[in-house]
Amino acid sequence: MKGENILIPSMHAVVVPFPAQGHVNALMHFAELLRARGFYITFVNTEWTEKRILDSSKHFSERSNFRLLSFADGLPPEHGRTAQLGELVAMLAKRGPVLEEVLRSSNGNGVPPVTCILTDCIMSCTASVAANMGVPRVVFWPLCAAASIAQKYADLLLSQGHIPIKVSQTKRPEQMISGLPGNIPDLWPSDLISFYREQCESDAIFKALLYEAQQSNEADYVLINTFEELEGRDAAAALSANGCPSLAIGPVFLPKVLQGEETRLGSMWDEDESCLEWLDKQRPGSVLYVSFGSVAVKSQQQLEELALGLEGSGQPFLWVLRSDIAEGHTPVLPEGFEKRTSDRAFIVNWTPQLKVLAHASVGGFLTHNGWNSTLESISMGVPLLGWPYFGDQFLTCRFAKDIWKVGLDFKDVDVDDNRLVTREEVESAVRDLMQNEQLRKRALELKEAAIKAVMPGGSSFTNISTFIRDMLEKAK
Ligand code: UDX
Repeated sequence: MKGENILIPSMHAVVVPFPAQGHVNALMHFAELLRARGFYITFVNTEWTEKRILDSSKHFSERSNFRLLSFADGLPPEHGRTAQLGELVAMLAKRGPVLEEVLRSSNGNGVPPVTCILTDCIMSCTASVAANMGVPRVVFWPLCAAASIAQKYADLLLSQGHIPIKVSQTKRPEQMISGLPGNIPDLWPSDLISFYREQCESDAIFKALLYEAQQSNEADYVLINTFEELEGRDAAAALSANGCPSLAIGPVFLPKVLQGEETRLGSMWDEDESCLEWLDKQRPGSVLYVSFGSVAVKSQQQLEELALGLEGSGQPFLWVLRSDIAEGHTPVLPEGFEKRTSDRAFIVNWTPQLKVLAHASVGGFLTHNGWNSTLESISMGVPLLGWPYFGDQFLTCRFAKDIWKVGLDFKDVDVDDNRLVTREEVESAVRDLMQNEQLRKRALELKEAAIKAVMPGGSSFTNISTFIRDMLEKAK
């Protein structure tokens, strides 16, 4: 990042993401910001994630002051990882000694001493590692601040009886949860992290995430991938652990986009760049981008209905149809669909999403509201149509619509897992999104605010400078 000059000695951040695409992307981008400002980076994936990244990004480790390490996640090769999230989170929580051994055995060889461990909020295994190595543990939240608060304060919500979450079709004002820290807007039960819903109570994920929420308090510093102009300084500060600093430093990917630098950093899929050529041929603002991130799945029936809705909308669309999106199976499109839509549809397995959202032809995003996708869309001035799947995505979808006023949604998908969204609904929601000038105007306002935040003198830029100064101070 250009601008402010800070004289930095050999600082060294060990960066440990949770092994899922959205989490890796956010921490990889933030690591790059630190590297640009003088840090040496050790980026530690699980072996499973590292293999996927290296298989799809051959040029990967060719960077100065950067190295990749990996540790075994303790699960057998055939395990579903993110498809069996509870088991993955619980197993990772026990991997501290393995991670520490990898770090200790790779010391030396001109690598500067470790200054801090920068860790995803659900990688509690890093707490003992940071303590044993005598370095600060910096907890990074790759969710919006409001969702991070809903996770961090899970114990409080449990003690107040809000979790296990009872989600109901009828929403009455008295069900709203008010008074959460950080002056965040009141929440509906359906906004809370969905893994705490009643039906999940006995599941591994409920217990594993509750434990992670408690362990997020073992922090010496907290950073959140959002910006103050979107969520407020109080919301960021509410994530503080025992009074430590807690700062909004996002959108972390935006500086690279603004500088026209390579944004492909830690992809676990082969990105299909041909969709960019197709976008070049479309009219400005005319294309709907459709993607549900790296984990969300849909039933075969739902995919067919979605396809027919996209067809019926008459809108050009670029659709990321991951090979495993149909609940692990190869998705099958309705008969004749590809032929009928060939003049205005482009279907791929994985895109360079930041480049897609930055493209002038893209005018709307049908998304699962993963935080990265949502923040990327907001930062590029693209309004959203939300179709959340799990976790924090329900809250993000609701906030995009009701609080940030940059999105639309489908009625009731937040309260009914099994609801089929019909082709007619898709058709009409897509038309509403693509024709809504108000949403477009608001998206452009937020884009400007996001850009301002990451430029020298902006809130996130300044917060990153503060963080670096504080780490320098601790390293002395
Ligand atoms: C996960 C969780 O599911 C989500 O709820 C949480 O907020 C973050 O972590 P994921 O489901 O993968 O993430 O979604 P998201 O946060 O949107 O991250 C997906 C990332 O993959 C984005 O950075 C996006 O740019 C990238 N992507 C997605 C591509 O590069 N190409 C694609 O085709 C699709």
